[in-house]
Parts: sequence; structure tokens; C-alpha cells
Amino acid sequence: MDTHDLSWRSLNLEHTRSLGVCLGEALQGGELICLSGDLGAGKTALAYGIGQGWGALEAVHSPTFVFVHEHRRAADGMRLYHLDCYRLTSPEDAYSIGLEEMLAGDDPLLLEWAERITPLLPEDALWIRLEADPTDEGARLIQFRAKGGPALRLLKIVQGWINAAHSITRKTDAAGD
Ligand SMILES: Nc1ncnc2c1ncn2[C@@H]1O[C@H](COP(=O)(O)OP(=O)(O)OP(=O)(O)O)[C@@H](O)[C@H]1O
Ligand SMILES: [Mg+2]
Repeated sequence: MDTHDLSWRSLNLEHTRSLGVCLGEALQGGELICLSGDLGAGKTALAYGIGQGWGALEAVHSPTFVFVHEHRRAADGMRLYHLDCYRLTSPEDAYSIGLEEMLAGDDPLLLEWAERITPLLPEDALWIRLEADPTDEGARLIQFRAKGGPALRLLKIVQGWINAAHSITRKTDAAGD
């Protein structure tokens, strides 16, 4: 299968948000980003950074009670959809909030609890799974899985961002020697 994986460890909330900013800045339209992980794993924290990097006029918060948030930015007419799939218990639920139209459209789509509706989603997507780190309550283990051109493009950008961040760390370490 033509999927690519990557793992990363976020050290704190800001670290997760800055990964989101990197992703948000890279969005061109039409991408599907599927966030998965338990309650409090950091999905909304990552979504917050994505909204910031993309240029959303309003901060991205949890969409839990409205299912869908439609964000806009000043630069162009593009929209960023942010959905919480936690309470979508049937395909009818998902279709009633316009999932099919959003998947078919050109605007980037960001799903929390995407694993709840996997059968309804296309295979081409960037999946990001966040998990608690048993060794550090402020850290998160983040697994990426990309399939399809747009997701692979995003994954490469994330890989570059991770590499750059590590090289800064090394330089800082060297400077401190
Ligand atoms: N490294 C980290 N990355 C992200 N969040 C972290 C990190 N360390 C601690 N946190 C805390 O974990 C919580 C993450 O909450 P968030 O709402 O993003 O989770 P969620 O996965 O969206 O949960 P839910 O499924 O309830 O929507 C926040 O309180 C945040 O401060
Ligand atoms: Mg959330």
C-alpha cells in the first residue's frame, strides 16, 4: 500500500500548536486531515495551530457542540472546515451535516475523532494520531500516516519542519557547549 508514516514527540502544548501552524501554512485546498486519539489527547490543540497557520479570522476551538465550524480567512475566499465526529453515530448523521459536500469540495477539511467515521472517508488523507506519553504527562506521541498526493506533500513539509527544528536544537546545544 502506498502509505508513508512518520512519528514525532511533542513536548508541550505550544509544541503541538507549532506543528499545527506548520500544517496550516502548507494547506492549499482540498486536503483531508483526520485527527484521532482519546479525550484530551491534543486534537483541538493541533487544530488551533492549523487554524492559526492557515490564517483563520477566528481562533479554532472545539466544535463539539455544533459539529462543524466553518472558518474563513482574510486573504481569499477559502474556507477551512473543522468537524467533530465524536457524536456522529450513523452515516445519515454525517451526511446530514454535509460531509459528502465537504469531501467533494476544494476547501481543506479537518476532522476530530475521524476514526469514528472511517468507512465514510476516502483513503487519501493525512491521518494524525495523538497519544499520551506514559513517561511525561505534558508530552504527546504523534503518528502520521499519509496516503495520496496532497497528504504526502503535507507529510514531507512536516518532515522538513521536524528536521529543521532538530537542527536548531543541535545548534543551540553546540552553542551551549
Ligand atoms: N504536548 C501537548 N500537546 C497538546 N496538548 C497538551 C500537551 N500537553 C498537555 N496538553 C494538554 O492536553 C489538553 C489537550 O486538549 P484538547 O482539547 O486539545 O484535546 P482533544 O484531543 O481535542 O480532546 P477531545 O476529544 O475532548 O476534544 C489541553 O488541556 C492541553 O493543555
Ligand atoms: Mg477536541
